[in-house]
Amino acid sequence: MKTIYLIGFMGCGKTTVAEILCEKLDVTLIEMDSLIEKKEGRAIKEIFAENGEAYFRKLETALLEEIPLENVVVSTGGGAPINPLNQKLMRRGTVIFLDASFQVIQKRLSQDENRPLWKGKEQEKERLLQERWPIYQQAADITIDVEDKSPERIADEILNVW
Ligand code: S3P
Repeated sequence: MKTIYLIGFMGCGKTTVAEILCEKLDVTLIEMDSLIEKKEGRAIKEIFAENGEAYFRKLETALLEEIPLENVVVSTGGGAPINPLNQKLMRRGTVIFLDASFQVIQKRLSQDENRPLWKGKEQEKERLLQERWPIYQQAADITIDVEDKSPERIADEILNVW
């Protein structure tokens, strides 16, 4: 099986869906943010605060270069597809965009304090999603509308179309 990359905005459900897919397909899960935190020995929030976003983006690209090209489902960080090089690296596998509305994301991340880019006024957060949306769309082979669906249903939809 070619590696599957789940992409999409923060809070769209990439990691939960990736876990279900890995169980169903009996393949390995790679959660990029967790792996970066493990390698760095500190939280994403700290990496951003101490070294800045550009440093974190380099770590993301370096990790994408290392990920096996088969038998893996990758839960990517929400900003990974911004870099065209990352898009190219992911194109070696199947890229699936989990498309969630701002309302759904907002509900899920209302209490979140761990994501350094989920900050500021609601309008700014929504603008970030609007800026990112066409990038996700064009980076993906497949788009799944996640809306109010359960992670199990999303995983089943992916398995049906993939
Ligand atoms: C980011 C999303 C986060 C994490 C970092 C930056 C982004 O991942 O990589 O905080 O730029 O959208 P999740 O999508 O898993 O929250």
